Amino acid sequence: MLTEVTAPATPFVPPYPPRPDKGMPLRQMLRVARENWLAVWAKSSFERDVYGSRLFLRDVVVCNSPDSVHYVFVERHENFQRKSPQHRHALIPLLGDGLFVSDGPLWRERRRVVAPVTHVSRLAELAPAITEAAAERRAQWRALPPGPVDVLAEMGHLTAEIICRTIFGRALGQEAAGKVVAAFADYQARIGQTDVLSLLGLPDWWPRFHGPGVRRAAQRIHAVVDGLIAGILDGGADAGEASLIRAMSEAKVPGTDAPMDRRAFRNEAIVLFMAGHETTANTLAWALFCLSQDSASAERLASEVRGVLGDRVATLADLPSLPFTRAVVEETLRLFPPVPLLSREALGPDRIGDRLVKKGSIILVCPWLLHRKPSLWDQPDAFIPDRFMPGAPKPPRHAYIPFSTGPRICTGQHLGLAEATICLAALAGSFRLALEPGVQVMPVARLTLRPGETLPMRLTPR
Ligand code: HEM
Repeated sequence: MLTEVTAPATPFVPPYPPRPDKGMPLRQMLRVARENWLAVWAKSSFERDVYGSRLFLRDVVVCNSPDSVHYVFVERHENFQRKSPQHRHALIPLLGDGLFVSDGPLWRERRRVVAPVTHVSRLAELAPAITEAAAERRAQWRALPPGPVDVLAEMGHLTAEIICRTIFGRALGQEAAGKVVAAFADYQARIGQTDVLSLLGLPDWWPRFHGPGVRRAAQRIHAVVDGLIAGILDGGADAGEASLIRAMSEAKVPGTDAPMDRRAFRNEAIVLFMAGHETTANTLAWALFCLSQDSASAERLASEVRGVLGDRVATLADLPSLPFTRAVVEETLRLFPPVPLLSREALGPDRIGDRLVKKGSIILVCPWLLHRKPSLWDQPDAFIPDRFMPGAPKPPRHAYIPFSTGPRICTGQHLGLAEATICLAALAGSFRLALEPGVQVMPVARLTLRPGETLPMRLTPR
């Protein structure tokens, strides 16, 4: 069912890779996917419901309808809860048995510890770190000399600051952010684009990731995070501040009276950093890009922020009064879902719609496709924040899944949304942003969906 919206006469349509009329032969697809797998999808891939093919001796099934997403992620979660082997292999050197890559009883156990500490009910404790970091970044921007700024890198630093302060406490997190970010950047650079090819179904023997460089990079992250955790748990280095580590240390492993062991703490801290950092950074970068191209929305957002906050930076309590800013964030998450591909392995045979699924098949749910499916969205490629304003018709359930859905839904969705809204209000409310002339922006899938490698923009204070 299509949800119609009141849209401006000519809404802004952000760039997207050309969509071939037909599917590509395998060899060409691999070549294109190596550059940018968003470019392999034919026009019909956005329109169809459930389809598949055989890649490297493995069946791959794409679920691109709300019903099939509901079936796989909610109704048959038990059979489709496991991340694809390629996905697990890419992340295990870093995350160990962390919740993001585990399944079965271990996943359930960790989820029961991690989900409550990032739950919406904890937001009031965690949000001051967001307001504080957003205010600092705004002050830094106000002091910048004229000239282009790489907004993508800026948003990476800002969200790393925030997640470090959230995980390790405000004081310690502020000191730690630089070290953690440098160690992560090294790991990411070593994993590179191959990761995405893997998600498309490359066989396990394909050379990737497990070089000594990747292991050393992971060990460096482990050492930094182990040190921070020891500082908090043994030495009270967070001085009793609210932090996710402190909250996890107070939680008991379900069925026991004991907290998690140190290795589990470390793995879950790294999961939270990885899951909560680049996702929010990309959302902010894309939102600032879209606003730079849609001056009516940029002015509307700035006037909402001025009216509600004056020159203050938003707190959690202000969020209900910033519906348009929030709608810009939600529309950005529709067009540029930071996790554009969710992949699973079928633990047993099944049937999705009319399609028989063999044990071991790879199931792909692509928010990139679903969020632009013409039968679900009016003007699917256009940036129309009004779709998400209070009172607008709601999209069908499971048509909009930037945080996934079902039992494995993102535990940090409320934190991520609050963070993106507070930061966007602080920055887009106080600056006009203009893309540096001559820069071509194109969505590229790395580990997450990014606007290329850099996003140079000029900032003018309002
Ligand atoms: C705009 C921001 C964010 C987006 C779009 C996002 C999106 C997602 C998605 C799509 C998944 C599911 C991945 C999959 O099944 O393969 C996920 C999982 C997860 N996210 Fe987020 N996320 C965001 C922010 C955060 C934040 C701020 C945190 C925590 C501080 C967080 C913590 C997690 C965790 C722990 C998981 C694993 C859940 C599980 O496997 O049970 N995320 N996220």
